[in-house]
Amino acid sequence: MQEKLIFEKSVPGRRAVVFPELDVPAVDLDSLIPKEMQRKEPAKLPEVSENEVVRHFTRLSQMNFGVDTGFYPLGSCTMKYNPKINEETSRLPGFSQLHPYQPESTVQGALQLMYETVADLSEIAGMNFGTLQAAAGAHGELTGMMIIRAYHQSRGDVKRTKVIVPDSAHGTNPATAALCGFKIVEIKSMPNGEVDVEALRKAVDDETAGLMLTNPNTVGVFDPNIQEIARIVHDAGGLLYYDGANMNAIMGYARPGDMGFDVIHFNLHKTFSTPHGGGGPGACYVGVKDFLVPFLPKPVVQFDKDQNRYYFDYDRPQSIGRVKAFYGNFGVVVKTYTYLRALGGAGLKQASGNAVLNANYLLSLLKPHYHVAFDRTCMHEFIITPKNLKDTGIRTLDIAKRLLDYGYHPPTVYFPLIVDEAMMIEPTETETKETLDSFAEALINIAKEARENPELVTGAPRNTIVGRLDEVRAARQPNLRYTE
Ligand SMILES: Cc1ncc(COP(=O)(O)O)c(C=O)c1O
Repeated sequence: MQEKLIFEKSVPGRRAVVFPELDVPAVDLDSLIPKEMQRKEPAKLPEVSENEVVRHFTRLSQMNFGVDTGFYPLGSCTMKYNPKINEETSRLPGFSQLHPYQPESTVQGALQLMYETVADLSEIAGMNFGTLQAAAGAHGELTGMMIIRAYHQSRGDVKRTKVIVPDSAHGTNPATAALCGFKIVEIKSMPNGEVDVEALRKAVDDETAGLMLTNPNTVGVFDPNIQEIARIVHDAGGLLYYDGANMNAIMGYARPGDMGFDVIHFNLHKTFSTPHGGGGPGACYVGVKDFLVPFLPKPVVQFDKDQNRYYFDYDRPQSIGRVKAFYGNFGVVVKTYTYLRALGGAGLKQASGNAVLNANYLLSLLKPHYHVAFDRTCMHEFIITPKNLKDTGIRTLDIAKRLLDYGYHPPTVYFPLIVDEAMMIEPTETETKETLDSFAEALINIAKEARENPELVTGAPRNTIVGRLDEVRAARQPNLRYTE
């Protein structure tokens, strides 16, 4: 039987809460909101009891899929387990009940936490200093590219209007550069997934503001020519931006700063184990080399050794200004700090080692059954395709839908764009061998089904609450309004 919508359960006068008597002076609504902007009639909210509200939201949560319900190998997204201790620390009243207008002397602990988080992340990145103001990866990219623009402008080098982006880049890279007013110069990747160094050499000139790169890149390949790439861009007067949205492969093994990068961002809501994917708050570290420190957003958190106190430094004339209200998503920073301190340097390195090991193990299980896009040792993720199943008519989307029937969240599909029918798999370090084995078994079974009974796969999913949706329509024309 179809569950009734919460609006359909509404009974006039039924209440989930009883408000206490007003014990402060009433405020005249007209003094707050102009009359013509006030509602003419009450909002049509469902009138239901408390247990109906609880059941409604619990039911919705059970229709969802998250890392806490199952394996979620979404490439490029690092859906690792987020330890629950992170939630506990971020809920401590000394952190969760701060007010951004409190005097500095009363928030010394929070400032110390931000200062030390920046120091730890700068150490991992190989950078000198940074900010935690940006609220997401793309926002961090924007901050970083504004810093690069401000640097060139400060030197009067205003003809640097081009940013080079490889064709394997995450879509946010060219979008960010364009938003900053740069012209995008795309360079092709080589068949083995690496940057085409000769194409880069031809692309750089005295109009190059910088290069945006991810290493390992979005096809899961670490580019061994990175130092040569950095030399080419620097010799032309450009800067190097590292998209460290995902740092899971190389923590403790390699530092982008040592590779030659000048600016970096880390999504704290990926590698540094804070929940994401449900539209909740993210956070981002943007780190820079010394010569770019003056351009960081203000304020930055500093420590005054003489007075033994932490403070917000607003006195930064070359700063690009604020990129977010107050100091960023502080609660997410607390979770990151907890993760960093719980694992320590050796633990973070082990996390990366295991992430790469898990990816290569899974790849080795799948290799006999699927076409491997870049057949080499991978980093934290890899790409397979159903090219070898072409005669069955099965496409990547069919496999992704069939995986839902097996109880798994599908991998990232049709990204990166340079691989036809891509399935990008990132198992992360927090999954057991047994989980990886059963996931591989599911994919191997699907390949078998494709050969023996393709309709089973093309008609999937069969065990979910809804079947195959028109995803474009669902995304572009969502019908979210209840009408009686
Ligand atoms: C490589 C890469 N860069 C940038 C981003 C953007 O991060 P956010 O979604 O937090 O804006 C992502 C997110 O998926 C990513 O994978």
